[in-house]
Amino acid sequence: MGKELNEYKTFLKSNLSKKRYTHSLNVAAMSRELAELYGEDKDKAYFAGLVHDIAKELPREVQYDYAKKCTLDVSDIELSSTPLLHAVAGAQILSEKFGIDDIEVLKAVRYHTVGSAGMSRLAQIVYLADLTSEDRDYKDVKKYRKFAHTSLEKGMYEALRYSIADTACKGNTIPICTLEAYNEFVIKLKSS
Ligand SMILES: [Fe+2]
Ligand SMILES: [Fe+2]
Repeated sequence: MGKELNEYKTFLKSNLSKKRYTHSLNVAAMSRELAELYGEDKDKAYFAGLVHDIAKELPREVQYDYAKKCTLDVSDIELSSTPLLHAVAGAQILSEKFGIDDIEVLKAVRYHTVGSAGMSRLAQIVYLADLTSEDRDYKDVKKYRKFAHTSLEKGMYEALRYSIADTACKGNTIPICTLEAYNEFVIKLKSS
C-alpha cells in the first residue's frame, strides 16, 4: 500500500477533524470486519476504509481541481455537488500524491458515496462500512448494519434504496451511476 499505515494515519489526523478521523478508523474497522465475513482481503479493506474520506475536509476548490484530473468516469452532477466531490478527489490524491496504483482501492474510494454498476466486492464493503460504521447514529442504522451483515447484495440493495429515496425526498440530484448500481442489485436479488 505504498507508505506504511501509520504514515496515512498521521496524514489523516492532521488533515481531518477529530470526529472525521474517528469515523475513518471506524470505517476501516467495519471494512475489515465485513471483508472477514465475506472472504475478501482484510488488509486491503482496512486500508480503503481508512483513506476513503482523505479529501473530505480540503477546501472545495482544491477538491474540485483534484476531481477534474481524475481519470475514472466523473459526471457533471458529481462535479457540481460539494458532498460528492471528495470521493473523486480522494481517489485522485491517493493516486497522485501517494502513488497508490491498486485500481480496486482507488475505485472503492471513488465510488464510496455514489456507488456504480459493476462495483467490486471491496467497493461494496467500503460503501456499506461507511454507512454502518460504529459512529453512525441515524435512526435505522442498526437495520442497515444487519443488512450489511446478511449479504453484500442485500446490504447494497437496501443501502442504495435508502440513499436514493432520501436524496429524492430532499430534492437533491442523483448521479446516473447510483441508479445503475441500484438497478443492478434489484436484478441480482430477484434472480437469487
Ligand atoms: Fe465520504
Ligand atoms: Fe465517510
